[in-house]
Parts: sequence; structure tokens; C-alpha cells
Amino acid sequence: MIVAIDGPAGAGKSTVARRLAERLGFRYLDTGAMYRALTWLAMYRGLALDQGDRLAELAEQHPVELSETGRVSIGGIDVTASIRESRVDRLVPVVARHPNVRAVMRRRQRELAEAGNAVVEGRDIGTVVAPRAEVKVYLVADRAERARRRMAERPGIGADALATDLRLRDESDAARMQPAPDAELIDTTGLEVEDVVARIEDLVRARQPA
Ligand code: DC
Repeated sequence: MIVAIDGPAGAGKSTVARRLAERLGFRYLDTGAMYRALTWLAMYRGLALDQGDRLAELAEQHPVELSETGRVSIGGIDVTASIRESRVDRLVPVVARHPNVRAVMRRRQRELAEAGNAVVEGRDIGTVVAPRAEVKVYLVADRAERARRRMAERPGIGADALATDLRLRDESDAARMQPAPDAELIDTTGLEVEDVVARIEDLVRARQPA
């Protein structure tokens, strides 16, 4: 079974998806980490980020590896920590925008998602990567709450810079931020992680054979 968890940055996807996967005993697949790893490698190699063909080639040659313990590697380098740096935050939408990069990523994401039960987190999972996912959830939260959560994750960055980053990322991600028509919309503002997880778990149990 595939559980698709989509939504904008700061809506609570990662925390919820990871916890849900643990509870269900499913694999957790963070597709944002894949775009981040590719962005990191392109920057490391000094590639121009406006060249979709070169970036797609790079993605093809260096598939992102996601370990069961949550480590992320690309080209044999462990990038788990570096992909969370703010320079990657800022540049990943530039890389993720190229259709040929997305085509390579999508193929790899489908391969990984289909290898058994998985909770898959991203922006376009329920619409494009796994349109036949048995459970689709689209998480939202108000912007102030999303900025607060980001601040907790990125303590070194000021509130204004974070709010601007969030707005710019929303704008660049907007094309892919459509909930699937059959997705369950959950507003996580003011909700505890465990409450959100329990709601999605109910949806999963309802789809599982008795
Ligand atoms: O969820 P995140 O912040 O780690 O995602 C990083 C970037 O990758 C974000 O700008 C949106 C993009 N992304 C995407 O375009 N499609 C996905 N399935 C996942 C992430």
C-alpha cells in the first residue's frame, strides 16, 4: 500500500510521515530529500542550475540512496546534514522546476515506492508520482505556524529571512502544490502530531483488508 502525504513546506509532512511509517511498519520515503540531494551535488560540482538537461543527466548517473535509518547519500557521499542547509533550501526549487529532472526523479520515486508498503512524502505524490495511492493526504497549516515550525528547524536564521524564504518557496513550488481531487485535506494548525498521525492511520486501516 502507498500512503501519499503532500503539502507545502512547514505543513508538518516530515514529522507526520516519519511517525506514521513507524506506527504502521511501512517504509518512509522523503522525495524532497531526493531533490535536495541532487541540488547539493550540482552545487558541489559547480553546475549551472538553469541547465535542466545537465541536471537530469546528473540525476540519472547518481541515483539518490535513502537508507532505512534515514541517511541520504548521492554519488557515494552522505549528505544527510548538508541538504538541510539554507543555501540548499533556497536553490532546490530552481532544480526541482526542470521537467526533465522531474521525469528522472519520478521514475526513481515510483521504483522505490512500489517496492512494498510505503509512506511517501512530497508535493506531487498523490497527483503525479503515485496517482493510484490507496491513501492520499494533503496537509496544510497557516503561514505563521509554518514559519514557526521552520524556525524551530533552522534556529540560525532570523524570522524575517525565514518568512521571505517560505514565501519564495511557496511561489516556486506553486505549480506542483495542488491537492489530488481525492486527497483528504488536513489543516495541522494547532493540532498535535499524534492527532494528525492517528487520523491518517484511521484512513489506512479503513483501506486495509480485515
Ligand atoms: O519537502 P522539502 O522542503 O524537503 O522539499 C524540497 C524541495 O523539493 C521543495 O522546494 C519542493 C521540491 N519537491 C518537489 O518539487 N516535489 C516533490 N515530490 C518533493 C519536493
